[in-house]
Amino acid sequence: MITIKTKEQIELMGKAGELLVSCHKELSKMIKPGVTTLEIDQFVEKYLAKHGATAEQKGYNGYQFATCASVNDVICHGFPSKTPLQEGDIVTIDMVVNLNGWLADSAWSYAVGQISDEAQRLLDVTKESLYRGIAQAKVGNRVGDISNAIQTYAEAEGFSVVRDFVGHAIGQVIHEDPQIPHFGPPNRGLRLKEGMVITIEPMINIGEYHSKVDADGWTARTVDGSLSAQYEHTIAITEDGPIILTNQI
Ligand code: MF3
Ligand code: CO
Repeated sequence: MITIKTKEQIELMGKAGELLVSCHKELSKMIKPGVTTLEIDQFVEKYLAKHGATAEQKGYNGYQFATCASVNDVICHGFPSKTPLQEGDIVTIDMVVNLNGWLADSAWSYAVGQISDEAQRLLDVTKESLYRGIAQAKVGNRVGDISNAIQTYAEAEGFSVVRDFVGHAIGQVIHEDPQIPHFGPPNRGLRLKEGMVITIEPMINIGEYHSKVDADGWTARTVDGSLSAQYEHTIAITEDGPIILTNQI
């Protein structure tokens, strides 16, 4: 279902977004060799509870954690685990905050200690691809304009765009219509309207775009084992341009 949000509802989503950003800022200080993603997950759950919010991912379609923690070749939906992060890893922490019934969704990739130049370039290009997509999230543009801006840029940099996972509209539930692919032709798809709130969340791989899901039913990895990164924001589409509700860094 497509929903249009009022200014007041967008403000409420913005409050969830602010809390999400402060949580990411706090957890970013924990990201070091030796920390486990389960420790980060437990921190997030407590932090949100302390601020009167909940982690919407927990219990969503049977998912058991507050965050997704996707290390190296994991594209998305990695389980937080007791395996310590190692120097040179990259890790994406994804969470959806529910504050007073309204949601905000944001993922951020982090470097663990010193990482390779290639891994750093993947992080930089993935982040820039997100912002190129956001620049197209304007009233009157179409979903494909966002998709195409991301794909064109990421591929020109020699990387590939994951096909099997896409962005989405969001409000009081995580996944509303329409879907927002990060690849595809411009000038196609739904026309963007004032009051839509969507996520843009490109997952970019160093190697090929193909993904496979582990036997746990969730953990999605690159088929070729190459590194994958992701940055995600929740964005309101307004007559004054896109408003990033999860703005940070
Ligand atoms: N934050 C994820 C997204 O962007 C939601 C993952 S679904 C979950 O769509 F079940 F893992 F939570
Ligand atoms: Co999302």
